[in-house]
Amino acid sequence: MKMQTNLSIAVLISGNGSNLQAILNAIQYDHLPIRINAVISNNPNAYGLERAKKAHIPTYVLSQQEFTSRDHYDAALSTCLANCSPDLIVLAGFMRILGKSIIYKFENRIINIHPSLLPKYPGLNTHLQVIENQDSEHGCSIHFVDEHLDAGPLIAQVSLKVSKADNVATLKQKVHQAEYFLYPTVLNWFANKRIDISNSHVFLDKILIPTTGLKFLMTEN
Ligand code: GRF
Repeated sequence: MKMQTNLSIAVLISGNGSNLQAILNAIQYDHLPIRINAVISNNPNAYGLERAKKAHIPTYVLSQQEFTSRDHYDAALSTCLANCSPDLIVLAGFMRILGKSIIYKFENRIINIHPSLLPKYPGLNTHLQVIENQDSEHGCSIHFVDEHLDAGPLIAQVSLKVSKADNVATLKQKVHQAEYFLYPTVLNWFANKRIDISNSHVFLDKILIPTTGLKFLMTEN
């Protein structure tokens, strides 16, 4: 059996924070061996901040309006992250593109969750694109963050079937359910030091992960 570590993370949010809540629940109820050092939001009204406060986690708001340039914002965020000294930075609905200075400073230590089966549909409105293109499959992805938008090395995905009855709202809900499973699962791998990355190749238990990430299939019951 592997030794469990207490991985420390900083979670970056912009809104509801239901993924943050899923991580908090996994820590509280499923013994996910992780400590959240900080929750950082670029939006002062993000409901996720309330979730963090309720769980007695330090919160920080870095609102872009308070900064005169993107570089100043990134410098402040970088300092905030360095002060929290997390092992891993977890983007959970953070609706701002991280500057290159941050990505390079915390290279291979930032992960993101995205509501599509990357490399399909980086960016916004993923559910709508799935409906418009009549895709039969959709899902979510967790990947390392690099300098390209939603394009860093993939760690894992959940795929789910799209039915004819689905619309943007039902897909959003299904994908969220998949995300609430996937983030705690992947964070558990990190906490147990099971994930490595080298030259953009991702390994689980020293075994190379396919470039599409490890795939879980969500079935309807
Ligand atoms: C999630 O769907 C995530 O994939 C995307 O933003 C959404 C955040 O939702 N990056 P929440 O704030 O965790 O509820």
